[in-house]
Amino acid sequence: MKKMLVLLLLATPLILSCTSSTASRKEAKEEKGVQEYVMAVDVKQFEKDYAKVHGNELKKMEEDGNPGEFILEDGKDMFHKVDGSAGKSCASCHGENGAKLKGIAVNYPKYDDNLKGVLTLPMQINMCREKNMGVAKEKSWKYGKAEITAVELYVKSLSNGMPINVKTDGPASKFYEAGKKNFYGKLGEWNWNCAQCHVKYAGRYSRQEFLPPAPLLADHWPSFRLDWGKEAGMHTRTIQDRFKGCIKNMRVSDDKIPDFETEYMRNLELYVTAQANQRPQHVPGFRR
Ligand code: HEC
Ligand code: HEC
Repeated sequence: MKKMLVLLLLATPLILSCTSSTASRKEAKEEKGVQEYVMAVDVKQFEKDYAKVHGNELKKMEEDGNPGEFILEDGKDMFHKVDGSAGKSCASCHGENGAKLKGIAVNYPKYDDNLKGVLTLPMQINMCREKNMGVAKEKSWKYGKAEITAVELYVKSLSNGMPINVKTDGPASKFYEAGKKNFYGKLGEWNWNCAQCHVKYAGRYSRQEFLPPAPLLADHWPSFRLDWGKEAGMHTRTIQDRFKGCIKNMRVSDDKIPDFETEYMRNLELYVTAQANQRPQHVPGFRR
């Protein structure tokens, strides 16, 4: 499947050069060193087309229940469980059922003054465990593992239905621009960038793979994904896991794929999440 996509993409410039009316031929604007592309697809239309092809299949699976909900329930249990030397649970400070954290997650990731960089929700959660619960640093939850993914999912679910509202101005703007550079920066053997697939050629369909447009990438994480079935128990994963998947598909060797929570990943997460601003957040997502 991946190979066919590659063929499609290699062939696209040829196709494009023969047609003259596509949006991507419009003049792209240059901004702060990044040559931005014009979005090739109307996002609403894309959603309709996607539903036509995958809608029934996904709907049927979702009717049986999104298995990501089990992870959400785990997260809820952990949120109410005492841990660390202070004898507190998250709920001791943030309320039963996270009452005081409603509407918080849609602001993440965000610029943080102490960090002088981008703070993601999992980092904030670990900070609370350390600073406010007295959990030893060695017991910090490792990004991408079950515990932090479950609690992130639970905290995010408290903002389901609310519009994503990531700040990109003020002190955040420098990091947003850095994230944009990452999104447009060439990687791997074929010198691709994220924007080629998610902006310039967004909406194209080949061999059961749609190229989803940038505004649809970030509103549903952590997400359940059938494709992640190989490793038991970890079908439900995070946005940075998904970044890694795409970077790998761009033919970047394993040792060169950026680690979780590096500046590269955090700035990229800020940029990609901001593309979903105003769209309602809904977790856990459900994907093939
Ligand atoms: C002893 C009280 C206490 C406990 C226990 C605690 N927190 Fe916090 N939490 C705070 C305080 C105070 C802040 C704001 C300042 C800060 O960042 O420390 C905060 C901030 C947060 C925020 C960011 C809020 C915002 O406005 O952006 C989140 C999310 C959060 N905590 C989640 C958690 C989770 C999840 C747990 C359990 C793993 C937890 N906290 C445990 C006191 C606590
Ligand atoms: C060669 C084309 C290609 C490139 C380059 C690419 N992606 Fe993707 N990306 C895809 C495809 C195809 C999918 C959807 C696959 C599927 O249906 O599961 C996807 C899915 C995603 C998703 C999840 C969308 C969802 O609906 O769950 C995210 C997030 C994402 N990409 C981010 C990135 C980032 C960040 C980069 C650059 C580091 C990147 N992608 C580079 C092809 C690409």
